[in-house]
Amino acid sequence: MLIVANWKAYVEERERVKKLYALAKRLTSATKVAIILAPSAPQLGFLAPRNTSKVAFAAQDISLTTGGPHTGEVTAAAFAALGATYTIVGHSERRAKGETRETTAQKVAHAVANGLTPILCVGEKERDTEGRYLADVRADLEGALESIAPKERSRIIVAYEPVWAINKTFDDAISVTDLAEMALYIRKVLAELSTAKTSAKTTVLYGGSVEPENIRGLAAGSDVDGFLVGHASVDPVMFAALVKALS
Ligand code: 13P
Repeated sequence: MLIVANWKAYVEERERVKKLYALAKRLTSATKVAIILAPSAPQLGFLAPRNTSKVAFAAQDISLTTGGPHTGEVTAAAFAALGATYTIVGHSERRAKGETRETTAQKVAHAVANGLTPILCVGEKERDTEGRYLADVRADLEGALESIAPKERSRIIVAYEPVWAINKTFDDAISVTDLAEMALYIRKVLAELSTAKTSAKTTVLYGGSVEPENIRGLAAGSDVDGFLVGHASVDPVMFAALVKALS
């Protein structure tokens, strides 16, 4: 099982950064759960080059630019040079600030070209009764996978994050049945876009109000390989409980 801790902009104090990293290190050596930390860019620059553990690092986003006169952009190559090996791409909080599906697809290709494994976020804004939410997820997957060569497609990690379930509490998160259905649907679409073998090998995560109360049920009742966690990943007690629940 894999947990990706998306610290978003929650963590600002240096002491807190150090404590959360130390906890992740401890948990990753004490359990079989793989942990990827996605801190902000300056924090990644502080932690990743000193990393002596199995904890891996992800950027929260990458710029589409390459090196040059682009004030304020943080490039994929700069993240990779610090030791990041993953990047979140197309998070709904970036899309809410104007990132389009096309841009997300370009970022997937750009991440792969720069040696970063994309953690592609897909997910509908709301659930309708006609099943349009399935078409939303399909369009996200098609755009992203078609941006890269077929042989690279198994490298993408897919994080299903329904926007309506993000930043709430466990009782507003997705039900086990709905997640099980969506995980199957994602694997079906992945098989259509690549091969059944690639689809089965692809890491599929769920994100959206994952807390100690619901993580075990979601893991046991659906075909996901782990979780992309926001607010509970920056609370040491909750984060430790999440990892222990999966181990
Ligand atoms: P929450 O776990 O805070 O709902 O956030 C989910 C998320 O957006 C992770 O990327």
